[in-house]
Amino acid sequence: MLVLGIESSCDECSVAVVEDGRRIIAHTIATQIEQHKPFHGVVPEIASRMHTEWILPVYRRTMTEASLTIGQVDGIAVTSRPGLSGSLLVGLSFAKGLAAAAGKPFVATDHILAHLYAPRLVEDISYPFIGLLVSGGHTLICRVDGIDAISVMGTTIDDACGEAFDKVAKHFGMGYPGGVVIDRLARKGDPAAFDFPDPSLHKGEHRYDVSYSGLKTAVANQLDQFWNRGYEKSLENIAASFERAAVDMLLRRLFRAVEDSGVARVVAGGGVAANSYLRKRLAERNDIETHFPPPELCTDNGAMVAGFGYHLLSRGERSPWSENVHARVSRFRHTYP
Ligand code: KG4
Ligand code: ZN
Repeated sequence: MLVLGIESSCDECSVAVVEDGRRIIAHTIATQIEQHKPFHGVVPEIASRMHTEWILPVYRRTMTEASLTIGQVDGIAVTSRPGLSGSLLVGLSFAKGLAAAAGKPFVATDHILAHLYAPRLVEDISYPFIGLLVSGGHTLICRVDGIDAISVMGTTIDDACGEAFDKVAKHFGMGYPGGVVIDRLARKGDPAAFDFPDPSLHKGEHRYDVSYSGLKTAVANQLDQFWNRGYEKSLENIAASFERAAVDMLLRRLFRAVEDSGVARVVAGGGVAANSYLRKRLAERNDIETHFPPPELCTDNGAMVAGFGYHLLSRGERSPWSENVHARVSRFRHTYP
């Protein structure tokens, strides 16, 4: 079964054709990094306008690469939630138009579930696992028991993890996207230069939650307070110390989730999952089986939508023509235990 996947929830415009939820036949990801760079973050208005310009060429390029016509595709899957409304609307409307014109079944999919499906495009992974989804828009620690069976254990109570990287980088004029620049600078710095605090959210229902606003303020406005004198106050040292604090905060909650649930298998995804310090720290845990999708499947992409959509379409799921977008999805609040 050939499924066309369309993703436009944030700043990546992507279309893919995937066979049987596994084999990527063709995949195009057009990223808007250059368009948002001057603003040090994604500007929703610009994002939706770029999707409107790009979606048709991205689709055409993918079909050319696949040597397929829409008539040869068995179904269409598209991201409809959560994400930026204006951006989501472009992909959803495009998918509806294609499906209606070609007489193909179409299904609207959940972006978070598609991210958690991404590594299954390259390897078989058994359930259950603990999902760690960290990007500019998502910060999620969850237990995953099936393709659409997830229980949210923890999330952020303020900024997303990648957003914190972007804001710190913006404050110090390091560059954009912040996570990539901080990762690079941090490799030349010493994480012992600053001791940034971990927010005390470890009790009760916040056992697996993170908070980045305090860390962001500490790094941006209270640097001297956490500075270990004797170390240089360089951008490299700031990057390394911030990165350690941001990632360790996440990993403490993640390891707690692994221990509490007894599920020693972790699947990471989202742009921050590309972080080298995060990868190194997770790899050190020989007692935990860890899976990272390749970088192009970590960030937003159409292949994960097509792969996940295949399972929905093959069990007969169809979305109505009245299907709409949703900026937020309530099920990704706490549902665990
Ligand atoms: O998944 P993604 O491409 O887009 C969404 O936000 O959905 O993630 C982008 C985020 C940005 O905040 C970026 O700064 C961060 O992921 N990021 C990283 C790294 N590469 C990208 N953060 C830390 N280390 C990296 N190597
Ligand atoms: Zn995403």
